[in-house]
Amino acid sequence: MRTSKLLAAVAVVELAAAGFATYKEIRSDTDNSDAITYYELDRSDTLFLYIQIIAGGDHQPLIEDFKTLARNYGSQNVSAIPRVRYGNDDGSVASEPADADLILEDVATWATVFSEVSGIIDIPVIQAGFLGLWGEWHSGHFCPEKGIYDTRENREVKKAIVDKLREVGPKVAMRYPQDHKALYDGDRGVTIHNDCIFNSGPKGYDGGTFPVEDRETWVSYTKEVASNNTYGGEPCDQASDSTFDWTDFAEVCGSNGLEAYIHEFEFSYLNPGNPPAFQQLFNDPSWADCVDDIGAALDSYL
Ligand SMILES: *[C@@H]1O[C@H](CO)[C@@H](O)[C@H](O)[C@H]1NC(C)=O
Ligand SMILES: *[C@@H]1O[C@H](CO)[C@@H](O)[C@H](O)[C@H]1NC(C)=O
Repeated sequence: MRTSKLLAAVAVVELAAAGFATYKEIRSDTDNSDAITYYELDRSDTLFLYIQIIAGGDHQPLIEDFKTLARNYGSQNVSAIPRVRYGNDDGSVASEPADADLILEDVATWATVFSEVSGIIDIPVIQAGFLGLWGEWHSGHFCPEKGIYDTRENREVKKAIVDKLREVGPKVAMRYPQDHKALYDGDRGVTIHNDCIFNSGPKGYDGGTFPVEDRETWVSYTKEVASNNTYGGEPCDQASDSTFDWTDFAEVCGSNGLEAYIHEFEFSYLNPGNPPAFQQLFNDPSWADCVDDIGAALDSYL
Protein backbone atom coordinates (compact mmCIF):
# COMPACT_ATOMS: atom_id res chain seq x y z
CA MET A 1 0.00 0.00 0.00
CA ARG A 2 2.63 2.48 1.03
CA THR A 3 4.89 1.58 -1.85
CA SER A 4 2.16 1.84 -4.44
CA LYS A 5 1.12 5.22 -3.07
CA LEU A 6 4.70 6.36 -3.24
CA LEU A 7 5.06 5.10 -6.82
CA ALA A 8 1.84 6.87 -7.79
CA ALA A 9 3.19 10.09 -6.29
CA VAL A 10 6.43 9.74 -8.22
CA ALA A 11 4.53 9.08 -11.46
CA VAL A 12 2.44 12.22 -10.96
CA VAL A 13 5.54 14.30 -10.35
CA GLU A 14 7.14 13.00 -13.53
CA LEU A 15 4.05 13.76 -15.57
CA ALA A 16 3.81 17.31 -14.25
CA ALA A 17 5.20 19.12 -17.28
CA ALA A 18 4.36 22.59 -16.07
CA GLY A 19 1.10 23.25 -14.17
CA PHE A 20 0.70 26.88 -13.13
CA ALA A 21 3.28 28.96 -14.99
CA THR A 22 4.16 32.23 -13.30
CA TYR A 23 4.28 35.35 -15.46
CA LYS A 24 7.58 37.13 -15.82
CA GLU A 25 9.11 39.44 -18.39
CA ILE A 26 12.57 40.77 -19.10
CA ARG A 27 13.19 43.54 -21.62
CA SER A 28 16.01 45.11 -23.58
CA ASP A 29 17.27 48.45 -22.26
CA THR A 30 15.61 47.84 -18.91
CA ASP A 31 16.90 47.14 -15.42
CA ASN A 32 15.85 43.50 -15.07
CA SER A 33 17.72 42.89 -11.81
CA ASP A 34 14.55 42.24 -9.79
CA ALA A 35 12.97 40.07 -12.50
CA ILE A 36 16.00 37.79 -12.66
CA THR A 37 16.30 37.42 -8.87
CA TYR A 38 14.93 34.16 -7.53
CA TYR A 39 11.71 34.41 -5.54
CA GLU A 40 9.76 31.36 -4.51
CA LEU A 41 6.73 30.89 -6.76
CA ASP A 42 3.19 30.36 -5.55
CA ARG A 43 2.03 26.77 -6.40
CA SER A 44 4.23 26.87 -9.49
CA ASP A 45 7.54 25.48 -10.68
CA THR A 46 7.50 27.08 -14.11
CA LEU A 47 7.95 30.60 -15.47
CA PHE A 48 5.79 32.00 -18.25
CA LEU A 49 8.62 34.11 -19.58
CA TYR A 50 8.44 36.94 -22.08
CA ILE A 51 11.73 38.18 -23.51
CA GLN A 52 11.24 41.56 -25.16
CA ILE A 53 13.87 42.62 -27.68
CA ILE A 54 14.32 45.73 -29.79
CA ALA A 55 14.73 45.29 -33.53
CA GLY A 56 18.26 46.16 -34.57
CA GLY A 57 19.32 46.62 -30.94
CA ASP A 58 22.15 45.02 -28.99
CA HIS A 59 20.82 41.79 -27.48
CA GLN A 60 23.88 41.03 -25.37
CA PRO A 61 22.87 42.66 -22.05
CA LEU A 62 19.47 40.95 -22.22
CA ILE A 63 21.13 37.63 -23.07
CA GLU A 64 23.26 38.00 -19.93
CA ASP A 65 20.13 38.78 -17.89
CA PHE A 66 18.36 35.75 -19.33
CA LYS A 67 21.29 33.51 -18.49
CA THR A 68 21.39 34.83 -14.93
CA LEU A 69 17.66 34.17 -14.62
CA ALA A 70 18.20 30.66 -16.02
CA ARG A 71 20.88 29.95 -13.40
CA ASN A 72 18.90 31.48 -10.53
CA TYR A 73 15.66 29.67 -11.28
CA GLY A 74 17.11 26.54 -12.86
CA SER A 75 19.16 25.81 -9.74
CA GLN A 76 15.85 25.83 -7.81
CA ASN A 77 14.39 23.33 -10.29
CA VAL A 78 12.10 25.93 -11.80
CA SER A 79 11.61 25.57 -15.56
CA ALA A 80 10.80 28.27 -18.10
CA ILE A 81 8.50 28.53 -21.10
CA PRO A 82 10.01 31.40 -23.10
CA ARG A 83 8.63 33.58 -25.86
CA VAL A 84 10.58 36.31 -27.62
CA ARG A 85 8.64 39.34 -28.80
CA TYR A 86 9.60 42.76 -30.16
CA GLY A 87 9.19 45.99 -28.24
CA ASN A 88 9.79 49.73 -28.53
CA ASP A 89 12.38 51.86 -26.74
CA ASP A 90 9.73 52.97 -24.22
CA GLY A 91 9.08 49.35 -23.19
CA SER A 92 5.76 48.95 -24.99
CA VAL A 93 5.21 45.99 -27.31
CA ALA A 94 5.78 46.26 -31.05
CA SER A 95 5.17 43.96 -33.95
CA GLU A 96 8.09 42.58 -35.92
CA PRO A 97 10.25 44.70 -38.26
CA ALA A 98 9.44 44.39 -41.97
CA ASP A 99 12.78 42.70 -42.58
CA ALA A 100 12.71 38.89 -42.68
CA ASP A 101 16.52 38.56 -42.62
CA LEU A 102 16.77 40.63 -39.45
CA ILE A 103 14.04 38.59 -37.76
CA LEU A 104 15.65 35.30 -38.73
CA GLU A 105 19.00 36.57 -37.44
CA ASP A 106 17.33 37.34 -34.09
CA VAL A 107 15.66 33.92 -34.08
CA ALA A 108 19.06 32.27 -34.65
CA THR A 109 20.61 34.35 -31.85
CA TRP A 110 17.97 33.31 -29.34
CA ALA A 111 17.91 29.69 -30.51
CA THR A 112 21.63 29.59 -29.68
CA VAL A 113 21.00 31.18 -26.27
CA PHE A 114 18.27 28.64 -25.47
CA SER A 115 20.66 25.84 -26.47
CA GLU A 116 23.36 27.29 -24.22
CA VAL A 117 21.16 27.05 -21.12
CA SER A 118 20.43 23.37 -21.70
CA GLY A 119 21.25 21.59 -18.43
CA ILE A 120 20.93 24.90 -16.54
CA ILE A 121 17.18 25.39 -16.78
CA ASP A 122 14.55 23.04 -18.16
CA ILE A 123 12.51 24.40 -21.06
CA PRO A 124 9.39 22.24 -21.53
CA VAL A 125 8.30 24.13 -24.66
CA ILE A 126 9.29 27.26 -26.58
CA GLN A 127 6.49 29.50 -27.78
CA ALA A 128 7.24 30.54 -31.37
CA GLY A 129 6.87 34.31 -30.84
CA PHE A 130 8.84 36.95 -32.84
CA LEU A 131 5.86 37.78 -35.11
CA GLY A 132 2.96 40.05 -34.31
CA LEU A 133 2.04 42.06 -31.24
CA TRP A 134 3.10 40.25 -28.04
CA GLY A 135 4.75 37.73 -30.39
CA GLU A 136 1.23 36.45 -30.89
CA TRP A 137 1.26 36.04 -34.66
CA HIS A 138 -1.38 38.66 -35.39
CA SER A 139 -1.25 42.34 -36.42
CA GLY A 140 2.27 42.07 -37.81
CA HIS A 141 3.98 42.58 -41.17
CA PHE A 142 4.48 38.85 -41.75
CA CYS A 143 1.26 37.65 -40.11
CA PRO A 144 -1.68 39.67 -41.44
CA GLU A 145 -3.58 36.41 -42.01
CA LYS A 146 -3.55 32.86 -40.72
CA GLY A 147 -2.82 29.54 -42.37
CA ILE A 148 -3.46 29.21 -46.08
CA TYR A 149 -4.97 32.71 -46.14
CA ASP A 150 -1.58 34.25 -45.62
CA THR A 151 0.85 34.68 -48.53
CA ARG A 152 3.35 32.00 -49.45
CA GLU A 153 6.18 34.40 -48.56
CA ASN A 154 4.77 34.97 -45.10
CA ARG A 155 4.23 31.25 -44.58
CA GLU A 156 7.90 30.72 -45.42
CA VAL A 157 8.98 33.21 -42.76
CA LYS A 158 6.68 31.56 -40.21
CA LYS A 159 8.05 28.12 -41.01
CA ALA A 160 11.67 29.32 -40.89
CA ILE A 161 11.12 30.67 -37.37
CA VAL A 162 9.59 27.45 -36.06
CA ASP A 163 12.14 25.22 -37.80
CA LYS A 164 15.05 27.20 -36.35
CA LEU A 165 13.61 27.04 -32.83
CA ARG A 166 13.00 23.30 -33.20
CA GLU A 167 16.75 22.84 -33.56
CA VAL A 168 17.11 23.83 -29.90
CA GLY A 169 15.49 20.56 -28.79
CA PRO A 170 12.35 21.33 -26.78
CA LYS A 171 9.00 21.25 -28.49
CA VAL A 172 7.90 24.48 -30.19
CA ALA A 173 4.36 25.84 -29.85
CA MET A 174 2.57 27.89 -32.50
CA ARG A 175 -0.23 30.30 -31.69
CA TYR A 176 -2.89 29.37 -34.24
CA PRO A 177 -4.19 25.99 -35.36
CA GLN A 178 -4.63 27.32 -38.92
CA ASP A 179 -0.91 28.19 -39.14
CA HIS A 180 -0.05 24.81 -37.64
CA LYS A 181 -2.13 22.97 -40.23
CA ALA A 182 -0.74 24.97 -43.15
CA LEU A 183 2.86 24.31 -42.11
CA TYR A 184 2.91 21.04 -40.11
CA ASP A 185 -0.35 19.31 -40.95
CA GLY A 186 -1.15 16.84 -38.16
CA ASP A 187 2.42 16.77 -36.80
CA ARG A 188 2.49 16.49 -32.99
CA GLY A 189 6.21 17.31 -33.13
CA VAL A 190 5.03 20.94 -33.11
CA THR A 191 2.37 21.94 -30.60
CA ILE A 192 0.11 24.95 -30.00
CA HIS A 193 -0.15 27.64 -27.34
CA ASN A 194 -3.29 29.61 -26.63
CA ASP A 195 -3.25 33.20 -25.37
CA CYS A 196 -6.97 33.52 -24.76
CA ILE A 197 -8.21 30.39 -23.04
CA PHE A 198 -11.87 30.39 -21.96
CA ASN A 199 -12.40 33.98 -23.14
CA SER A 200 -16.01 33.16 -23.91
CA GLY A 201 -16.57 30.11 -21.78
CA PRO A 202 -16.95 26.41 -22.54
CA LYS A 203 -18.27 26.66 -26.13
CA GLY A 204 -16.45 29.81 -27.12
CA TYR A 205 -13.81 30.84 -29.62
CA ASP A 206 -10.91 31.53 -27.27
CA GLY A 207 -10.47 35.06 -28.61
CA GLY A 208 -10.02 34.16 -32.27
CA THR A 209 -8.15 30.90 -31.70
CA PHE A 210 -11.07 29.05 -33.24
CA PRO A 211 -12.62 30.80 -36.26
CA VAL A 212 -16.30 31.58 -35.80
CA GLU A 213 -17.21 30.18 -39.23
CA ASP A 214 -15.88 26.71 -38.45
CA ARG A 215 -15.26 26.30 -34.74
CA GLU A 216 -15.63 22.53 -34.54
CA THR A 217 -13.07 21.81 -37.26
CA TRP A 218 -10.43 23.88 -35.50
CA VAL A 219 -11.27 22.64 -32.03
CA SER A 220 -10.81 19.07 -33.32
CA TYR A 221 -7.60 19.95 -35.10
CA THR A 222 -6.22 21.64 -31.99
CA LYS A 223 -7.00 18.57 -29.90
CA GLU A 224 -5.43 16.29 -32.52
CA VAL A 225 -2.07 18.03 -32.44
CA ALA A 226 -1.94 19.73 -29.02
CA SER A 227 -3.93 17.75 -26.41
CA ASN A 228 -1.62 16.25 -23.78
CA ASN A 229 1.26 17.70 -25.84
CA THR A 230 2.52 20.54 -23.63
CA TYR A 231 -0.50 22.59 -24.68
CA GLY A 232 -1.11 25.68 -22.58
CA GLY A 233 -1.08 29.43 -22.34
CA GLU A 234 -3.11 32.02 -20.54
CA PRO A 235 -6.79 32.47 -19.89
CA CYS A 236 -8.22 35.82 -20.93
CA ASP A 237 -11.24 38.08 -20.98
CA GLN A 238 -9.71 40.79 -23.14
CA ALA A 239 -10.69 39.70 -26.65
CA SER A 240 -13.69 41.20 -28.41
CA ASP A 241 -15.84 38.07 -28.18
CA SER A 242 -15.46 37.91 -24.39
CA THR A 243 -18.70 36.75 -22.78
CA PHE A 244 -17.50 34.77 -19.77
CA ASP A 245 -17.66 36.45 -16.36
CA TRP A 246 -14.38 35.62 -14.63
CA THR A 247 -15.47 37.49 -11.50
CA ASP A 248 -18.11 34.78 -10.94
CA PHE A 249 -15.75 32.44 -9.07
CA ALA A 250 -18.49 29.86 -8.52
CA GLU A 251 -18.87 29.62 -12.29
CA VAL A 252 -15.09 29.45 -12.92
CA CYS A 253 -14.93 26.69 -10.30
CA GLY A 254 -18.20 25.03 -11.32
CA SER A 255 -18.78 21.78 -13.16
CA ASN A 256 -18.71 23.56 -16.52
CA GLY A 257 -15.81 25.78 -15.57
CA LEU A 258 -12.09 25.91 -16.12
CA GLU A 259 -11.21 22.49 -14.74
CA ALA A 260 -13.60 20.78 -17.18
CA TYR A 261 -12.11 22.85 -20.03
CA ILE A 262 -8.60 21.78 -19.05
CA HIS A 263 -9.68 18.14 -19.23
CA GLU A 264 -11.49 18.66 -22.50
CA PHE A 265 -8.40 20.08 -24.21
CA GLU A 266 -5.78 18.39 -22.04
CA PHE A 267 -3.94 21.58 -21.16
CA SER A 268 -0.74 21.13 -19.18
CA TYR A 269 0.07 24.72 -18.17
CA LEU A 270 -1.64 28.05 -17.51
CA ASN A 271 -0.48 31.49 -16.45
CA PRO A 272 -2.76 32.28 -13.50
CA GLY A 273 -1.96 36.02 -13.76
CA ASN A 274 -4.57 36.71 -16.42
CA PRO A 275 -7.33 37.78 -16.56
CA PRO A 276 -6.94 39.86 -13.38
CA ALA A 277 -10.08 38.27 -11.90
CA PHE A 278 -8.46 34.84 -12.22
CA GLN A 279 -5.41 36.13 -10.37
CA GLN A 280 -7.75 37.26 -7.59
CA LEU A 281 -9.28 33.82 -7.42
CA PHE A 282 -5.81 32.29 -7.38
CA ASN A 283 -4.85 34.54 -4.46
CA ASP A 284 -8.08 34.07 -2.50
CA PRO A 285 -7.59 31.53 0.32
CA SER A 286 -11.31 30.76 0.41
CA TRP A 287 -11.03 29.35 -3.14
CA ALA A 288 -7.83 27.39 -2.51
CA ASP A 289 -9.49 24.00 -3.11
CA CYS A 290 -10.66 25.11 -6.54
CA VAL A 291 -7.19 26.41 -7.41
CA ASP A 292 -5.63 23.15 -6.23
CA ASP A 293 -8.08 21.18 -8.39
CA ILE A 294 -7.22 23.30 -11.43
CA GLY A 295 -3.52 22.75 -10.73
CA ALA A 296 -4.06 18.99 -10.38
CA ALA A 297 -5.95 18.93 -13.68
CA LEU A 298 -3.01 20.63 -15.41
CA ASP A 299 -0.59 18.24 -13.75
CA SER A 300 -2.44 15.24 -15.17
CA TYR A 301 -1.31 16.06 -18.73
CA LEU A 302 1.99 16.33 -20.49
C1 LIG B 1 16.47 19.75 -7.78
O1 LIG B 1 16.24 18.44 -8.23
C2 LIG B 1 17.32 17.55 -7.99
C3 LIG B 1 17.02 16.24 -8.67
O2 LIG B 1 15.74 15.77 -8.36
C4 LIG B 1 17.50 17.42 -6.47
O3 LIG B 1 18.59 16.58 -6.20
C5 LIG B 1 17.77 18.79 -5.88
O4 LIG B 1 17.82 18.71 -4.48
C6 LIG B 1 16.68 19.78 -6.27
N1 LIG B 1 17.06 21.12 -5.85
C7 LIG B 1 16.22 21.95 -5.24
C8 LIG B 1 16.78 23.27 -4.85
O5 LIG B 1 15.07 21.64 -4.99
C1 LIG C 1 -0.50 11.74 -22.06
O1 LIG C 1 0.73 11.35 -22.63
C2 LIG C 1 1.50 10.48 -21.83
C3 LIG C 1 2.83 10.28 -22.52
O2 LIG C 1 2.66 10.00 -23.85
C4 LIG C 1 0.74 9.19 -21.65
O3 LIG C 1 1.48 8.32 -20.81
C5 LIG C 1 -0.61 9.50 -21.01
O4 LIG C 1 -1.37 8.30 -20.94
C6 LIG C 1 -1.35 10.52 -21.84
N1 LIG C 1 -2.56 10.89 -21.14
C7 LIG C 1 -3.74 10.89 -21.74
C8 LIG C 1 -4.90 11.26 -20.87
O5 LIG C 1 -3.88 10.61 -22.92
